[in-house]
Amino acid sequence: MIEPGLTPAQVRQLFPSLQHRVHLATCAIAPPSTPLTAALHLMLAALLTTPWPEFESMTDYVREHAATVLGAATEQIALVPSVSVGTYQVASTQRWRGSRRRVLVSASDFPGVAHVWLAQQVRGCDVVFIDTAAGTDPLDAYRAALDEHTALVCAPLVTYRDGLRLPISDLAHAAHQAGAKLVVDASQAAGVMPVDVASLDCDYLITTTSKYLLGLPGLALLYARHPAAGPKPTLTGWQARQHPMAFDPLTLDWPASARRMETGTPAIAAVYAAVAGLQLIERLDLTAVHQHVTSLVNHAAQRLRAHGERLTLPKAEHRGAHLVLHDPQPQVLADWLERHNVLTAPRAGVLRIAFHAFNDHEDVAQLCDAIERHRSHGMAGNGRRP
Ligand SMILES: Cc1ncc(COP(=O)(O)O)c(C=O)c1O
Repeated sequence: MIEPGLTPAQVRQLFPSLQHRVHLATCAIAPPSTPLTAALHLMLAALLTTPWPEFESMTDYVREHAATVLGAATEQIALVPSVSVGTYQVASTQRWRGSRRRVLVSASDFPGVAHVWLAQQVRGCDVVFIDTAAGTDPLDAYRAALDEHTALVCAPLVTYRDGLRLPISDLAHAAHQAGAKLVVDASQAAGVMPVDVASLDCDYLITTTSKYLLGLPGLALLYARHPAAGPKPTLTGWQARQHPMAFDPLTLDWPASARRMETGTPAIAAVYAAVAGLQLIERLDLTAVHQHVTSLVNHAAQRLRAHGERLTLPKAEHRGAHLVLHDPQPQVLADWLERHNVLTAPRAGVLRIAFHAFNDHEDVAQLCDAIERHRSHGMAGNGRRP
């Protein structure tokens, strides 16, 4: 059991790999913690018994504690295999009838999310992309497109590529005034800053558990403000029944809770990992964690800019937990950094540098020293000039 009120140094000690490696890639995947490893051993031990009662109670634990972390009720949380499936479940419970059949999707949404909406076009949904790139005013861009035809507004809390934090509660207000609902992808925010569905005033929120929530791939959380509103989900399974243990193939009923959006057996290893991650997250002061990562983002930005690196840096109030460095060959740079024990997260044209509670200023120094060495060695991919 982890003690309440962990300091960044105490959090760091729970990640043994950090003793010999700088992990700046949590925007892609979390490093393994000691509690996560212990949880996976528990799961393996359960396999030597009749594991289903324990698997079920771990799954219940995730629903309950995910609800606490997001400020929701347990009945408003569904466990889904991925953010893409969670988005699909939201889409499948919309009607796309009459004149209100439009979805506004950020052009900076994660591709998997955007693809789900695009695939809804065959059902009559009208998809409009909104430019929310750094440098634009995302709220104005959404407002200009919102009208009586808008059914849903979809937005990331923090964009996966540029680390831009969107003004979600203002967007919720604008969406609701136009009679639309708001769907938020919080995958780049949940676990590293306060994410509270009531303050955000969103209607749906989806997040992976494999990044800042410190779990494993294979499990995502879906919050629905009114889970039973609208049509029943068409992607379903025995876990979405009123009485899953009745094992009745002839009865298709849906509970009123968000479990109606679940499907079959969840990825059990990811469930155990999520328990470990949520236990750790619940012992952090996420406001303090947000301040901590913001100071690391700012420090890294200052030092990298001083050495001529080209960055995308949103305005102070719109920064997330990662920094974006432009490089024509980000994979080459990431591979070089990895060989020097610094893990980062490359994407097309950019290197993402992500911070969590376990990172510190020494990590920033190691990253910057390594990048400076890489540049001065004249390696391929010097992206310092536009
Ligand atoms: C913002 C965001 N949403 C979603 C995902 C993942 O989506 P899925 O769980 O469907 O793979 C990622 C990254 O992997 C992401 O950065």
